[in-house]
Amino acid sequence: MSNSTDLMINISNLNFTYLKSGKHAINGIDFSISKGEVFGFLGPSGAGKTTTQRLIIGLLNGYHGNIEILGKERNKWDKSFFEEIGVAFDFPNLYLKLTAEENLKLIGSYYKNQTNNLDELFDEVGLLKDKKTKVENFSKGMKMRLNFIRSIMHSPKIMFFDEPTSGLDPVNARIIKDKILDMRRKGKTIFLTTHNMTVAEQLCDRVAFINEGTLSAVDTPGNLMLEHGSAYVKIVYENNGLKVNKSFDLTSIGYNQEFKHILETKKIQTIHSGEATLEDVFIKFTGRELI
Ligand SMILES: Nc1ncnc2c1ncn2[C@@H]1O[C@H](COP(=O)(O)OP(=O)(O)OP(=O)(O)O)[C@@H](O)[C@H]1O
Ligand SMILES: [Mg+2]
Repeated sequence: MSNSTDLMINISNLNFTYLKSGKHAINGIDFSISKGEVFGFLGPSGAGKTTTQRLIIGLLNGYHGNIEILGKERNKWDKSFFEEIGVAFDFPNLYLKLTAEENLKLIGSYYKNQTNNLDELFDEVGLLKDKKTKVENFSKGMKMRLNFIRSIMHSPKIMFFDEPTSGLDPVNARIIKDKILDMRRKGKTIFLTTHNMTVAEQLCDRVAFINEGTLSAVDTPGNLMLEHGSAYVKIVYENNGLKVNKSFDLTSIGYNQEFKHILETKKIQTIHSGEATLEDVFIKFTGRELI
């Protein structure tokens, strides 16, 4: 782990209630994120992922507890805060009637730290040939890639992505994932939410599971899978003419009498082994299947 001077985000005892509905969406959560980390926030729909991100970036106020960003409490920051962070949620902030290039020039002009090489950014996400096209003629994947470079064009230290690859085809998803890993290599800090456990495994140094506004685990995907998942053997056999499916824990398979008995007495159709997955851990912590 990095030392405390590398702490980019430090959340303690964060609580938040949506006033209108009275919904207590965040229930005393604690976590911190260090420089150069990709931190994944995982949890089922309605768990509080977007709410937490919105609190951290200042789109929601009226929280209790502490949100320290770069050593300073969130509500003590002035607008220079937005020079330090990059946010790619949905893309309501793209101007549809302008071209991609006009969008970036306009949005870039709001920042002190301006990018001098827009073409390089377009090229990195495969949009160079489309830069003169009006955004209203962009596909969803093109808008997502444009929105992505829009969020990083001022070289922020910390980036927030909400489901950065959702709805993208595998090629576009790969482009975005590679960009995230590239930024990590450059020492940027990345906080992302996702339902996609494969994306989390591929990108995240650490993940946190949130369920009904409460954090249940924070660790590396590898540690979580080791501690909470288990490798298994799945066997399919025939019993009185019926097909039966059974799973056994791989680690103790040699001593498992039931498994031995099946091997000795039944007609086996298939046997497969499998690794523990982050999806198993997700289900264990949230009690819910992925959607
Ligand atoms: N504007 C709002 N007003 C009132 N309640 C809200 C509002 N936005 C979210 N909530 C409630 O707060 C809880 C957390 O919602 P949140 O959007 O943070 O979930 P999420 O983890 O991002 O879910 P998803 O995976 O579906 O994006 C939910 O119960 C939701 O109904
Ligand atoms: Mg959300």
